[in-house]
Amino acid sequence: MSRLRVAVLASHYGSNLRALHGASLEGEARFGIALVIGNNSGSGALTYAREAGIPTVHMSGRTHPDPEELDEAMRAALVAHGTGLVVTAGYMKKLGPRVRQEFNGRIINIHPALLPLHGGKGMYGKAVHEAVLAAGDAVSGPTVHFVTEEYDAGGVIAQSEVPVLPDDTVESLAERVLAAEHLLLPAVVQIIATRAPASADR
Ligand code: GRF
Repeated sequence: MSRLRVAVLASHYGSNLRALHGASLEGEARFGIALVIGNNSGSGALTYAREAGIPTVHMSGRTHPDPEELDEAMRAALVAHGTGLVVTAGYMKKLGPRVRQEFNGRIINIHPALLPLHGGKGMYGKAVHEAVLAAGDAVSGPTVHFVTEEYDAGGVIAQSEVPVLPDDTVESLAERVLAAEHLLLPAVVQIIATRAPASADR
């Protein structure tokens, strides 16, 4: 059975990477994690991937001070690993034009709010959940969307809703949304893998 080769880009703990990798090990999974790229050499995401035996690459402004070289090195690494789908999951850097062009329509991101609400530059981490609470929203939840040049502006692929409770704090809401992310992202990747045989190579 051919499996979609997924590259995950992550910056910090990598709980979405862990959820995706766990799902990829299930019998019915149509995808595998082919590569993890991280911009932070000591991150939980890279450590997890190394321990799990997943190929990893550390790339950042330190390893490649020239942004164009970084973009090209990332593009080349993704191609070299036979990547069919790029997933940015808690990746705090913008992708360069070469990567975006090479994988046009095959780069997805997970955002911890119901886009187009509470997205855009600066809207990451606690700021997102603070904005949801400040707006008095009754629901929140993750969005999986295509990556374009603008932050959080590409087409929405899927969302799932969780309630915002009256006594929620940023932490309690973040925890509820993150749990929903861990279900939504593997489900979306599985659907893409099932429907996109052209980008699967093994
Ligand atoms: C998640 O909330 C994701 O939506 C956001 O960053 C967080 C990453 O968490 N983009 P993790 O590194 O996957 O644990």
